[in-house]
Amino acid sequence: IQQLLFVDSNKPPVVFHIFPFFGSTINYGIDPYKFFFACQEKYGDTFTFILLGRKMTVYLGPKGNDFIFNGKLSQVCAEEAYTHLTTPVFGTDVVYDCPNHKLMDQKRFMKFGLTSETFRAYVPLIIEEVETYLKNSPLFSARKGPVDLLAVIPELTIFTASRTLQGKEIRKGFTGEVAGLYHDLDAGFTPMNFMFPWFPFPQNKRRDAAQRKMAQTYMDIITKRRAAAARGKQPEEKDMIWNLMNQKYKDGTVVPDKEIAHMMIALLMAGQHTSMATMTWILLHLASRPDVVQDLYEEQLRIFGKDLEPLTYESLGELTLHNYVIKETLRIHPPLHSIMRKVKSPMRVPNTHWVIPDNHYLMAAPGVSAIDGKYFKNPTAYDPYRWAGEKVTIEEEEEKFDFGYGLVSKGTSSPYLPFGAGRHRCIGEQFANVQLGTLLAMFVRLLKMNLPDGQKEPAPPDYASLIAMPQRPATMIYEWRKPEKK
Ligand code: HEM
Repeated sequence: IQQLLFVDSNKPPVVFHIFPFFGSTINYGIDPYKFFFACQEKYGDTFTFILLGRKMTVYLGPKGNDFIFNGKLSQVCAEEAYTHLTTPVFGTDVVYDCPNHKLMDQKRFMKFGLTSETFRAYVPLIIEEVETYLKNSPLFSARKGPVDLLAVIPELTIFTASRTLQGKEIRKGFTGEVAGLYHDLDAGFTPMNFMFPWFPFPQNKRRDAAQRKMAQTYMDIITKRRAAAARGKQPEEKDMIWNLMNQKYKDGTVVPDKEIAHMMIALLMAGQHTSMATMTWILLHLASRPDVVQDLYEEQLRIFGKDLEPLTYESLGELTLHNYVIKETLRIHPPLHSIMRKVKSPMRVPNTHWVIPDNHYLMAAPGVSAIDGKYFKNPTAYDPYRWAGEKVTIEEEEEKFDFGYGLVSKGTSSPYLPFGAGRHRCIGEQFANVQLGTLLAMFVRLLKMNLPDGQKEPAPPDYASLIAMPQRPATMIYEWRKPEKK
């Protein structure tokens, strides 16, 4: 009877379902947040649901975040949760296709390419990309008009990330063959690929061919750069490829070109969807709040004067309200709604008699505590100003820990963790802040923003892709502040 009622007193409760293999797949897939909150009300913070035959144990709230993000290597494993999705796209021997200690080394290498010095050089490059794009794009050719952000922001994100992190050659490639390769890679990076890795989707063939070609493109760049260095030619820009070419694994081996290529693809994919989704949500929320746009503009006038001096990396730090806007957008729309690990050895849930067996997966959803009234007043309201008073309750002091690639926050008891925590924490946070901050400041300088007449709120999220994007159409009404300067 206990089994029929999905009750096993030694395990967290199982979410009621009728069909054994499908379990709660549909409810979770349509709206994960609605599903998590409904389950939390019924079962508490810890429960197991069936996702296409996999047993997913969710542990919500700051304690759950801590339990999952800080699980020991002997207990939790990210590779087994993600590799079937990521390895065909990134390539072999990197990220989740290698032991964790190798990933820690690789994250250390990538961190070396994400310093204040590089960011200082990136800001003018991002500005140039945005100005050129907005001023030349037929989508912005009127003085005022509607624009589909889902046609604009993916391009702007990829152009700015490729011009900075990926280097000049790859940026150039985005006006030609590389754009097509990226498209084919992206088409193989979907929830379907995640859930049915064994299914021969027709796009998988194109994905695999694109992966090989893309990796070859990076390897050719590396070969050319080595040849130029041998002729005594100094690199024009010290970008991420240059940085990775100069790193060594802890055991002294140099990083093979193929692994550099695969890490570059991983960086491209990890940064593109997350930043693109965040920027789209930022603009949609601002379009619904012209009062905030006006405050942002005034913040820039205060800092840069009435002629708006050029933005710099240092000045980005002074744009307090701009930073609150990014933070608030990530609170309501963290791009990753579910973070997974495979359980490797049975794990007792603290202060309970429950033990999570090693045939389960663990799922953290820090986005749930970020919109929970326990931690944030008026939690679903978009209110960038809330960060001024830091109205978030953090239960314990943030603890820092060195996983081998610099100090990262181990203190996972925060309800607000859009960049994750622990050994798999994001290394791209500062880059994302530079990219998003510069894009945001440029949009505010150049354009006024509104939603179409009669629309008060941004479109609701669509959970059909791996990253929560707004439903189509994501229309914004732009108006040039100084049309004569176009
Ligand atoms: C990991 C979020 C941008 C590279 C993560 C994780 C989260 C996250 C939640 C943890 C995943 C897990 O624990 O399983 C975000 C958000 C971004 C962003 C919200 C932007 C708004 C970027 C960018 C890059 C990047 C721009 C590259 C430059 C990575 C890498 C990891 C990671 C390499 C490590 C994966 C691991 O150790 O397993 N990110 N990310 N991210 N992110 Fe980001």
